[in-house]
This record gives sequence, C-alpha cells and structure tokens, in this order.
Amino acid sequence: MIDFIVSAFLYILPAYIANSGAALFGGGTPIDFGRKMRDGHRILGDGKSWRGLAVGIFFGAVAGYVIGYLTQLTPYAALNLEKYALLGVLLSAGAMVGDLTGSFIKRRLGMERGAAFPLLDQLDFLIGAILFGAPIYLPGFLTILFLVIATPGIHLFLNYMGYKLKCKRVPW
Ligand code: CTP
Ligand code: MG
Repeated sequence: MIDFIVSAFLYILPAYIANSGAALFGGGTPIDFGRKMRDGHRILGDGKSWRGLAVGIFFGAVAGYVIGYLTQLTPYAALNLEKYALLGVLLSAGAMVGDLTGSFIKRRLGMERGAAFPLLDQLDFLIGAILFGAPIYLPGFLTILFLVIATPGIHLFLNYMGYKLKCKRVPW
C-alpha cells in the first residue's frame, strides 16, 4: 500500500514540479502574444507565459533526472536513469501542454483568465503528463485512478498556499 502510493507520487512528481514552477516563476510575455480568436476571446490568456512554459519544463526535467538518479539507490527504481530523465522531460512538457489546453478550452467557453473550472483546472496538466509520458512509461489503471482522485486536493492545497504566499492571484 505504502509502496503503491510512493511509486505513484515518484512517477508524477516531475509534472507537479513543472506545474508549480510555472505558477511560481511564470509571467511576462504571454504565449499567445495577446492575440484573440474570432470569438473575441484570447487564444490562451495572460496566465500562460513563455517564461512559465520554459521554467516548468526545465524544473520538471531536472526533477526527473534527480528522481531517476536517487531511485536507482532504492527499491523503487522502475526504469533506468536515461528513461527517468526522458520521462521527466515528457511528463513536464505534457503537463504544460495539458495546462495550455485547459486554458484554451476555458477561453473558448468565454471564461476569463483565472476563472475557476473545477476538475479541468486540477486535472488538465495531469492528463497531459500521463499521455505524453506514455511512450516511456504508462502506470497501471489503479495508479492512474489514484492520481486522478488525489491530485485535485493536492493541487488546491498548493494553490491556496501559493495564494497566501502572494505568488498566485486566486486561491484555486
Ligand atoms: N503560469 C505562467 N505560464 C504558464 C503556466 C502558468 O506564467 N505556462 C503562471 C501564471 O502566472 C498563472 C499561474 O501560473 O496565473 C497559475 O496558472 P493557472 O492557474 O493555470 O492559470 P490561471 O491564471 O488560472 O489562468 P487560466 O484561467 O488560463 O487557467
Ligand atoms: Mg490551469
């Protein structure tokens, strides 16, 4: 049971770190350069910046490498170091693309930047990460189910902390 939970979080950690890194260090030029679509709404909005994207992928990739290195010393090593490193890049890139997709969907529905969309806000990055990481490693159904159930609460808690620490504009 403990092994199951530890393995699940070790696997997804690069995606969490990518997402938090983007939120903590993002800002500046928006990915959509301020452009709108024909529906009159921004393509992605000011909450999706190039810096957040770059920092997120970089932090997640570093996390993947460190996790890969450290897990080789434990019974939790599911992959060799090269594969952990590659998985870290894929999980963090997938997390960013999933998050961008979530914002794209929100803008198409006419929701302003920062508007709450329960479950989409908490799971977009997780789904993106799992899909992108799948060619290297796809966890079992129970692990995915566990992460889908556990992530919204963790995500909300971290966002609330970020809001209290004045790193985030809204508490969700
Ligand atoms: N962020 C960023 N660049 C990214 C992703 C996130 O700069 N590629 C930063 C932004 O400052 C954003 C914060 O992280 O406000 C939190 O991300 P999120 O909650 O996903 O964005 P929202 O501001 O809520 O915007 P949206 O409505 O588009 O989800
Ligand atoms: Mg989001």
